[in-house]
Amino acid sequence: MADFTSSFWNWFIAVPTILGILGCFWLVIHYSGARTYGESKEGEPMGHVWDGDLQEINNPLPRWWLNMFYATLIFGIIYLILYPGLGSWKGLLGWTEAGQYEAEMKQAEETYGPLFDKYLKVPVAELAKDPKAVEMGRHLFATYCVGCHGSDAGGARGYPNLRDNDWLYGGTPEKIVETITNGRQGAMPAWEDQGLLTHEQVVNAAEYVRGLSGAEVDPQARAKGEEVFKTNCAVCHGPDGKGNQALGAPNLTDDIWLYGGSQKRVIESIAHGRSGRMPAWGELLGKGKIHLLATYVYSLSHNKGP
Ligand code: HEC
Ligand code: HEC
Repeated sequence: MADFTSSFWNWFIAVPTILGILGCFWLVIHYSGARTYGESKEGEPMGHVWDGDLQEINNPLPRWWLNMFYATLIFGIIYLILYPGLGSWKGLLGWTEAGQYEAEMKQAEETYGPLFDKYLKVPVAELAKDPKAVEMGRHLFATYCVGCHGSDAGGARGYPNLRDNDWLYGGTPEKIVETITNGRQGAMPAWEDQGLLTHEQVVNAAEYVRGLSGAEVDPQARAKGEEVFKTNCAVCHGPDGKGNQALGAPNLTDDIWLYGGSQKRVIESIAHGRSGRMPAWGELLGKGKIHLLATYVYSLSHNKGP
C-alpha cells in the first residue's frame, strides 16, 4: 500500500491494535471468574453499604454479558484477518475501496450502457420527442447542471437561460453537444480596465448598446457610442450588434442579458469585461449521457405544448 512508505507506520498501527485486542481478552477473562475481595468470598457482602440497607455483593459478571464481549473480540479478529485494517496487511479477501467502486461502476455500466447506446443511435432532434429520453436527460441535468443553470434551466446572472432559444454558441443539436462536451470560455475584453477606452467612451458605448434593444437613452451619447461600437465592438458583436455564435459574443439587440441590461450593469460589462466559463463534461460523462443531456436542453426550447 502506497500510504505506508516505511514499515514504521505499519507497526505503529498493527502492534497497538493487536496488543489492544489481547488486553481486552485479558480484562474479560480476569473479571469472569469468581474472585475474593478483601475478606469477602463469592456471594458475600463486600462491606459497601448505601442508604442504610443497599449493599454490594461479590458476584461475578453475568455470563451472557461476558459472552457478548468475547463475540465482539472474535468478530474483530476475523474482520482484521479478512479485510485491510492492520497496517499494510491487505486482508485475505483482497477487498479495496477502489475495487468496490470499480465493481459498482461496472454494474451500472452494464445496466445503463445498452440503454444509452440505444438512444445514441437516435438523432437529438428526434429523440427530443421521446418523453422517456427527455426525462432521463432531465435527471442527468438535475445531477450535474442545476447548480449553475437553475433547477428549471432558467439561468441566473452570468449563467445563461437554456429555455429561451437565444443562444450564445448556437442551438443546433451539434452545437449543444459541442458546448457540453468541450465546455466554453467567454472572452469580453475589459475596455476601461485595460486602458483601451476612456470612461466616457464606455458610457457612450453602453448607451448605444442599450438603445439597440429599445431602451430609452440619451441621443447624443448614443450617437457618440455608435462610433465607438463600429471601431471596437463590431468585430465580435457584428456591425448590427446581432452577435457572433462562433465567438460566443451575445446578440445585443434582443433585450436578453446575460449580465443584466440596466445602465449600471452594461457599463460594468464593458468597463471590466466578462469571462463566463462553462465546464467541459466530455471526459466525466461520456457520449451517451451527453447525448441525453443535449436532448433535454434541446427539448426545452423546441418542444411546444403544455
Ligand atoms: C460551473 C457552472 C456551470 C455548470 C455546472 C454547467 N454550466 Fe453550462 N454554462 C455555464 C456558463 C457560465 C455558460 C456561459 C459561458 C459563457 O458565458 O460564455 C454556460 C453555457 C452553457 C450552454 C450554452 C448556452 C448558449 O446560449 O449557447 C449550454 C448548452 C450549457 N451551458 C449546458 C450545460 C449542461 C447540460 C450542464 C450540465 C452537464 C451545464 N451546462 C453545467 C456554467 C455552467
Ligand atoms: C473579442 C471579442 C469582443 C469584443 C471586441 C467585444 N466584445 Fe462584448 N462580449 C464578447 C463576449 C464573448 C461576451 C460574452 C462574455 C461571456 O459570455 O462571459 C461579451 C459580452 C458583452 C456584453 C454583455 C452582454 C450581456 O448579455 O450581458 C456587453 C454589454 C458587451 N459585450 C458590449 C461590448 C462593447 C460595447 C464592446 C466594444 C467596446 C464589446 N462588447 C467588444 C466579446 C467581445
